Amino acid sequence: MKIISTVREMQAACRSLRKTGSLGLAPTMGALHDGHLSLVRRAKAENDAVAVSIFVNPAQFAPGEDYDTYPRRLAEDCAKLEAAGVDLLFAPSVEQMYPSGAASFVEVAGLGDRLDGASRPGHFRGVATVVAKLFHIVDPDRAYFGQKDAAQVAVLRAMVRGLHFPLQLVVCPIVREPSGLAMSSRNLKLSAAEKDRALALSRALQAAARLLGNGETRAAALRAAMLSHLSGQDGVRLDYAEVVHPETLLPVADTRQGALLAVAAWVGQTRLIDNLLVEASSVEHPRTASMPEQIEEMHV
Ligand code: PAJ
Repeated sequence: MKIISTVREMQAACRSLRKTGSLGLAPTMGALHDGHLSLVRRAKAENDAVAVSIFVNPAQFAPGEDYDTYPRRLAEDCAKLEAAGVDLLFAPSVEQMYPSGAASFVEVAGLGDRLDGASRPGHFRGVATVVAKLFHIVDPDRAYFGQKDAAQVAVLRAMVRGLHFPLQLVVCPIVREPSGLAMSSRNLKLSAAEKDRALALSRALQAAARLLGNGETRAAALRAAMLSHLSGQDGVRLDYAEVVHPETLLPVADTRQGALLAVAAWVGQTRLIDNLLVEASSVEHPRTASMPEQIEEMHV
């Protein structure tokens, strides 16, 4: 695995790989876990070469957020990526990605202000900007993202479409701990007691999944089920629990046309997110094929 820290070198290395075959990219902020590695494995299976980026992007953290305390584990990350057969690791400095005087940003208006964008103003402007930079530097055939960050997926899909990036955006399922907790680099910041409390998020979604399994489609009922696990819990502070359209991120009244059940909550000082994607149901098969699988995955 070649480790590259400058934009120029990365552009040249990617150009050379693309001459001989397809190139997949998995952008990350490091402190890698099995969720990240699932993206890498998928990218390996679908491309001739794979590039991973590790960059804790200051532009997507608001002042007072956890940029300084975000986990950084470069040596361990390198070993994991090497073992996974990654060709290129791009680990640039802040100065490389944001040269002084750089004042160009990417904003996905509307979408960027919903869900996490509403709680974290400027967050998706930072995400869209750094991902657009990475797309320009790497010019991948396919780029891999996790369903874990569902609002991020909606924003980046809109950016790819709106700015005509010539690549395929591939979205991979949420990888969970055996407990049901969605894997996240921020889980490293949780104490054992907080890790227990953090199960409120996946339990909220499991409760909604059970209702969906029984044929419930009303957003209000699903929201109430989620809230019963997230409000009034010791050490858990609700940010949002919403039933929205997966592409527009706007609230829907009913899940029959497909919906995203999304939750965010603070556990101690750490903000966590999780979600459940509900596919549109057809008249003949009101329960979609993917729902039982998702319920099973969530250990209901
Ligand atoms: P990061 O949180 O490091 O996540 C990198 C990628 O891994 C994202 O696409 C995320 O959705 C995916 N991922 C994280 N946890 C996952 C899980 N449990 N299951 C499946 N996929 C998971 O998301 C970011 O970094 C940044 O915003 C980034 C896109 C790199 C831009 O800075």
